[in-house]
Amino acid sequence: MQRMFKKKNYVQQLDESDCGAAVLAMVLKNYQSDVSIVKIRNFAQTDSDGTTALGLVKAGEHFNLKTIAIKADMSLFDNMGRDLQLPFIAHLDRNDGTLHYVVVSEIHKKYLLVADPDPSVKVTRVNYSDFKKEWTGVAIFMAPNPEYHPVKDDKDSLLNTASLLLKQRKIIIEIVLTTFICTLITISGAFFLQNLVDIYVPVDMVNTLNAVALGLAIAYVFHGIFTYMQGYLSVILGQRLSIDILVSYIKHLFELPMSFFGTRKIGEITSRLTDANNIIQTLAETAISTLLNIGTILFVGIALSSISFKLFLISLITIPVYGIIIALFLKKFDQTNNERMEQGALLSSSLIEDVRGIESIKALGIENQRYSHIDRRFVKGLKANYKYNIAAVLQGAFKDVAQLVITLMILYMGARMAIRGSISIGQLIAFNALLGYLMSPIEEIIGLQSGLQTAKIANKRLNQVLLVPEEKSGEIDTTIINDEGIEKIHFKSVSFEYKYGQPVLKDINLEIKKGEKIAIVGLSGSGKTTLAKMLVGFYQANEGQIEVNGVDIKLINKKILRKRIAYLPQTPYIFSGSVLDNILLGSAEGNTSISDVVSAAKLAGIHRDIEALPDGYSTNLSEDSGLSGGQMQRIAMARTLLTGASAMIFDESTSNLDVLTEKSIVDKLIKLPEQTIIFIAHRLEVAKKADRIIVMDHGKIVEMGTHTELMKNKGSYYSLWEG
Ligand SMILES: Nc1ncnc2c1ncn2[C@@H]1O[C@H](COP(=O)(O)OP(=O)(O)O)[C@@H](O)[C@H]1O
Ligand SMILES: [Mg+2]
Repeated sequence: MQRMFKKKNYVQQLDESDCGAAVLAMVLKNYQSDVSIVKIRNFAQTDSDGTTALGLVKAGEHFNLKTIAIKADMSLFDNMGRDLQLPFIAHLDRNDGTLHYVVVSEIHKKYLLVADPDPSVKVTRVNYSDFKKEWTGVAIFMAPNPEYHPVKDDKDSLLNTASLLLKQRKIIIEIVLTTFICTLITISGAFFLQNLVDIYVPVDMVNTLNAVALGLAIAYVFHGIFTYMQGYLSVILGQRLSIDILVSYIKHLFELPMSFFGTRKIGEITSRLTDANNIIQTLAETAISTLLNIGTILFVGIALSSISFKLFLISLITIPVYGIIIALFLKKFDQTNNERMEQGALLSSSLIEDVRGIESIKALGIENQRYSHIDRRFVKGLKANYKYNIAAVLQGAFKDVAQLVITLMILYMGARMAIRGSISIGQLIAFNALLGYLMSPIEEIIGLQSGLQTAKIANKRLNQVLLVPEEKSGEIDTTIINDEGIEKIHFKSVSFEYKYGQPVLKDINLEIKKGEKIAIVGLSGSGKTTLAKMLVGFYQANEGQIEVNGVDIKLINKKILRKRIAYLPQTPYIFSGSVLDNILLGSAEGNTSISDVVSAAKLAGIHRDIEALPDGYSTNLSEDSGLSGGQMQRIAMARTLLTGASAMIFDESTSNLDVLTEKSIVDKLIKLPEQTIIFIAHRLEVAKKADRIIVMDHGKIVEMGTHTELMKNKGSYYSLWEG
């Protein structure tokens, strides 16, 4: 029953929240499937807290693995777990309080062989008592179903990204050509040195010396020109790759569905840009340096062997020596590198979070606490950096010694050959001059391995974003909703959960007709916001469907849907720019007149406040705009009103207003004849005026009707009023 854990089946996590996805990837690899972590995260509904056991089970089932999760104790390993399906997933509670998944791949008398997705641990032997300390007792067993067949997901490989280089082949060829010319000039310089010592000086050939020196001087000028060109072209290449990788990353980011943003930390997303840069640099360097170095090694090799074949053969010892030095450090770099990147991402997300929440931090007086939290992160990052850099310095020292000793060896052998007269002094000097041009390219080519390793991980991390499918935009850009506006909204038995096993909406049935004014009320957490977000297609129903004008919204182009049904979020965002810019963001393309803006502002009851600002509508707002919460809400309302959408959802948009202002705004909105309006309301005064009130509780619609009807019913609505 025991299976050897194969090294190639190891998958490392790319983020702390990835361990669940990574262990499932390992199990899948064990059954010959190669699935990217992104895909698994998607099926397991992983979020920034990680993956639930139920999520892993569901994802395993998706890939046709028969999956059983059990709660057990150490007796599971009695008889060396003879009947257990290996490998299986174990859930750990590590002593630093973090939850973690690992793969148990072999059971031995004294120890378990555990594959830990944390790359600083990797595959280790863990003795039973240590395992017992951390294991929560949860074990997830997976084995292929009859329908199972291996899947390969090759989109995640670096090769795929590297294919971008092919697009730039013209410029790469140019770079290679210029460098070859430079190499040739360098080689002729060495031969000049040889002739200088062997011929010109001993035979007093002044004229030839003059001519050759002049020729060489001119060649050196060209050397300069070509070196410049090579550098110039490399810069261009880097920039072109940036466009291909960075710009497409950013564009992709904007097209991702809301569920993506709900499950990642901001820092995780922004730090991917560093990864992208990393890849670009490595790709450009690798492509160029491989081609160039191979060319240089070839040319210089020919030149060297023409001087002395024997010495050339000796200098080839460089290859195994550097090979060994680099191999020795590979593992170390591999481990520390990922840790560096991960800590960097975590640090920047903590910092972003704290800066955004600085008001609360100061108000609570917890500056020191937050600081020391970040400080700990920073120290962790520093430690990883330290390990990495010390390893790099040490490796540099080894290389240095190797180079000096090899050079010495060659000079020693060469000198003995010169003494015996088998080569001339000039040849020895020329050989020595060219030797460096052989050794450093050899070193670089061997060293590429570690650069590629970094790029590979960076590429995987970048792919965590790039491989997430963009928001599915239905094909129908429906004249249906274009011409007639929103005639009917229909929730048909809609159920929804953000995470497996935690239903947020349950069997919602609701019909809303054109022009209706609806109020949705209910306790906080009852699912009102979720319902609204589903209507604009931020999330997809798990069961049932939502129809607009009789068409399933899955089929409708999301951008158009959101233009027709405008959703104003509970905490609207004011962007930096003027008040006018902020309101205009909602305007339907271009031709919006100032009077449109003013009437939207009047409708939202903010016109007078704006006029009182120092520069009126041109007043600049920044994140900390000095506006009150209620003012920001009303500016955002004006923005939404200006969209001209035929249905609007205001998610507690008047919650920060005083009762009188709220009343006057709601009165005006209720009177709009055409528009369908959904008020998600906290204050029941708003509900009172609506045509229909929907009462939600724990994800269900529990009551529906007018204020008078519901008051008469003495149900949930009545109790909300009472209290
Ligand atoms: N992005 C999310 N991920 C996971 N759970 C969420 C998310 N947003 C809301 N929830 C959960 O869904 C439930 C309903 O939330 P919400 O729709 O915001 O309620 P309401 O607007 O009525 O206060 C709550 O239990 C909340 O914790
Ligand atoms: Mg809400």
